[in-house]
Amino acid sequence: MRKKIVAGNWKMNLNAEEASNLVNGVCTALENIKLDESIHIVFGPPAPYLPLVKSMIPSILTETALVAAQNCHSEPKGAYTGEVAASMLSDIACDYVILGHSERRKYFKEDNELLNKKVQQALANDLEVIFCCGESLEQRNAGVLFDVVKDQLTAIFDLSEEDFKKVVIAYEPVWAIGTGVTASPEQAQEMHAYIRKLIAEQYSEAIAENTTILYGGSVKPANAVELFANADVDGGLVGGASLKDADFVDIIKAIV
Ligand code: 13P
Repeated sequence: MRKKIVAGNWKMNLNAEEASNLVNGVCTALENIKLDESIHIVFGPPAPYLPLVKSMIPSILTETALVAAQNCHSEPKGAYTGEVAASMLSDIACDYVILGHSERRKYFKEDNELLNKKVQQALANDLEVIFCCGESLEQRNAGVLFDVVKDQLTAIFDLSEEDFKKVVIAYEPVWAIGTGVTASPEQAQEMHAYIRKLIAEQYSEAIAENTTILYGGSVKPANAVELFANADVDGGLVGGASLKDADFVDIIKAIV
C-alpha cells in the first residue's frame, strides 16, 4: 500500500520560537490522532531550523513525523559558497528533500538537467525526494498542461526502479500556489491519474500503484477533504496553511 503524506513547506517563514510553537502544537495534536504506519507527516522548515524541528519530535512520533529540507545542491561538496550538500542534510538526520518547486524553477532558474543532478545527490545520500511539477496558468489555458508535466518528469524518469521508489511526486499547479485558488478535485485527480499512467509506462503498474502523488496549491482545511478523497491524490504539500498549527492539524485529519 502506498504512503499517504501531509507535508508542510514553510518556505522562508517563521523564526525559531514560532517554529517551536508550531511543531509543539502539531505534535501534541498528533498524539491524539490515530495515524497508521502508512501516513507520514512532514515539516519543511528553512534549513537552519531543521535540527531544531527534528529534535522537537517526541520519540513516540519518530516513525510518523519527519522533516524535509527545501533544497540541496547538485554537487557532493566543494567551492559553492552558501550551498548545502545532500550529505549534510543526511548528516543532521533530515528525511526528505523537496526538489523542483516552481519557486526554485522560477527564481533560481532550476531546469531539468540541474534537478536531475540534485535528485541523484539526494538519493545517493539516503534522502527521500518530494519532486514537484506543475503547469502555469498560461500553459493550462494553452492546453499544454500534460506536455509540461511530462517534460518536467523526465528529470526523474532516468532513475533506476530502486531509486524511483524513494521519490514522492507533488503536483503543484503554479496558478494555485499562494493564490487562494485551488485546483478542483476533478482537475487534481485528472493530472494525478495522468502522472500515474506515465509512471506505469516508464516503470511498471506495480511501481505506479506504489508511488505517492501529492497535490499542492492553496490546500486548506476547507478543501483538503474533497481533494484527498480522490483515488490518485495521496495527500498534500501545503504552504501557507502549514504555518498555523490548527490549520495544519485539520489538513492532517483530512488524510486519516
Ligand atoms: P500554498 O499552500 O501557500 O499555496 O503553497 C503551496 C506550495 O507551494 C507548497 O510547496
